[in-house]
Amino acid sequence: MTEQITLHRFDDMHCHFRTGEILKTVVPLTSLYAGRAVVMPNTRPRAILDADDVTWYREQILAAIPPDHRDCFHPLMTIEIRNETTPAMVYAAYRAGAIAAKVYPRGVTTNAEHGMEQLLSAQAIDTFRALDELGMLLLIHGERDEPRLLVTQREEAFLPTLQQLALQLPTLRIVLEHVSTRVGVETVRSLGANVAATITAHHLCLTLNDVIGNGVHPHHACMPTPKGFDDLDALIEAATSGDPKFFLGSDTAPHLREKKECAHGACGVFTAPILPMLLADMFERADRLDRLDDFVSRFGAEFYRIPRNHRKIVLGKRSWCVPAEYAGIVPFKAGELLSWQLIDSCVC
Ligand code: NCD
Ligand code: ZN
Repeated sequence: MTEQITLHRFDDMHCHFRTGEILKTVVPLTSLYAGRAVVMPNTRPRAILDADDVTWYREQILAAIPPDHRDCFHPLMTIEIRNETTPAMVYAAYRAGAIAAKVYPRGVTTNAEHGMEQLLSAQAIDTFRALDELGMLLLIHGERDEPRLLVTQREEAFLPTLQQLALQLPTLRIVLEHVSTRVGVETVRSLGANVAATITAHHLCLTLNDVIGNGVHPHHACMPTPKGFDDLDALIEAATSGDPKFFLGSDTAPHLREKKECAHGACGVFTAPILPMLLADMFERADRLDRLDDFVSRFGAEFYRIPRNHRKIVLGKRSWCVPAEYAGIVPFKAGELLSWQLIDSCVC
């Protein structure tokens, strides 16, 4: 039995840090084991939409990194593309250090009430072309909300749009974020090398049953919603297959307990404090621990065309109880025992 594993520091290609006190709580949790994180722009009250926002947000994140991780953790900045985003705004954001842009179709998730409406309009395509010219990535929350469409069907309903975008922008690197269905996995596989997908840790262990099948579980509620067993099998297979089109994007999405445990609770699963340990457990169960390092630190870096992190972390086979709360935020698997523990977080 494997007792210890050494992994490169992670690239978490989909991370919500929020602002204010939550940011101060969560940045140190990710910077403990990640070399980089792609920071999502759906912040409130100020969303990250242009160059000034990027500069403002990066400063706050940098200030929240504990001193002993300052040289081994780097945020990768993004902007949100909305209907009103112009190519000029994209160019300016790039100069301010943004490396990718995120699109939320309107209304599909937390803080997407100003999201984009027509992803295939001439104006949207012009904006996406600016990303392509700059070598920036287009990150897509791949769901479509329509009347009479169940929440479980939203990802599949978006896939034709993804196919259209990949066809019209064959050199733009596009990431289908947090893929959650077998048909999503198959679509990403069928498209060219410019299209990849992130997979979260929680989508590797939850189905819809875990959200609403045994009492309502607010800390498992997220978008895209976890789906059926066949989808779960497809995600585990994709993550552990060694296919470089699939890499880690945790979508760690912290919300205060009172925003989750209430009527009309917020969507998002907070996995940051347990991510390496949870993934080690999932990959071990699939008998693919040998493929974990590529999933968390190699394929994402290759797709983003950035050098792999050289520092490493060490996990040991020791049981560890997940804390009940981090400053008012309930983590995934709170109070449960995990079989791995982080024993060294920055090995040169
Ligand atoms: C995310 C959030 O809370 O910002 N929520 C979620 O359910 N995943 C937004 C997102 O990535 O969809
Ligand atoms: Zn997200």
